[in-house]
Amino acid sequence: MGQKVSRIGVLTSGGDSPGMNACIRAVVRTGLFHGLEVFGVLRGYSGMIDDEIQPMDSKSVANIIQRGGTILKTARSKEFRTSEGRTRAYANLQKHGIDGLVIIGGDGSFHGAKTFSNEFNIPCIGVPGTIDKDIAGTDFTIGFDTAVNTAVQAIDKIRDTADAHDRLFIIEVMGRDAGYIALHSGISTGAEHILIPERKTDMEALLISLQEKEKRRKLVNLVVVAEGDDFGGANEVSKIIRERLPNTDIRVAILGHIQRGGSPTCLDRVIASRMGYAAVGSLIEGRHNVMVGIVNNRIHYTPLDNAVKAKQRISEDWMKIFKILAS
Ligand code: F6P
Repeated sequence: MGQKVSRIGVLTSGGDSPGMNACIRAVVRTGLFHGLEVFGVLRGYSGMIDDEIQPMDSKSVANIIQRGGTILKTARSKEFRTSEGRTRAYANLQKHGIDGLVIIGGDGSFHGAKTFSNEFNIPCIGVPGTIDKDIAGTDFTIGFDTAVNTAVQAIDKIRDTADAHDRLFIIEVMGRDAGYIALHSGISTGAEHILIPERKTDMEALLISLQEKEKRRKLVNLVVVAEGDDFGGANEVSKIIRERLPNTDIRVAILGHIQRGGSPTCLDRVIASRMGYAAVGSLIEGRHNVMVGIVNNRIHYTPLDNAVKAKQRISEDWMKIFKILAS
């Protein structure tokens, strides 16, 4: 526990995720409800360094809960990784009298928050906002549900055309370091294989399985590949398969950034609102350097250190479920 706050800043940092706006709205309105002054920092840590900081009132967050992206904009700031950058950022916070921060972002953003807070003793509360879902200490991250549902809708459509032509589709979903979108979309669309960064891909086993399916005349096959799998994404995977199975009709679909945009689902709006509300409560209670998450439907606090260090891992159970159901 640390000092109390009266003027707080809120920012979004790293890759945007649907629901960030709902969280900003919750932070602003909860802060105002408790008599705090609330400031929006534009473009993540870059805006803190460049003094893009503006007061926010209740109206400034009207009509945004349903919108993807982030009204505060976001960035990945290289300058904030330097001591000079952070010193400038702190000077700007002092100028506005800001004495507490809510950072909505992923593990890179929390890493920055932890360093900043240690250097300048300013309370920082993290809120997990990433479509990748790869943050420890929370069952949910803002944006994952929307992103994975976008992927599922797209893959269902791909299955229709794959079925019509008896084709093998290699579908790339987002996740440079994390396979959650691939895992969840793969399970829920009945994909035959998933390739994720958390597991080494046994390409030989994959090729044998596809060959066997061809022999059984099971010609519609979906392989969902996270962009960060060890073979380097869907295009690379398709090259290898084409070489070994030259007679197979193969197409590649890369879903890309459509997964990051769009109107947030009800779940993302609700968890974003709960976590934004709890983040302000944490600052008021004098908490320092924690990430607010939801575990077993309760608000849960994780030291930023642990949220940064311990990424979520995909358990063997998940892989087993996938394999049994896809066989
Ligand atoms: O926000 C997370 C994420 O979408 C990853 O899944 C992806 O690899 C990365 O961001 C892409 O980032 P950018 O839009 O900067 O290329």
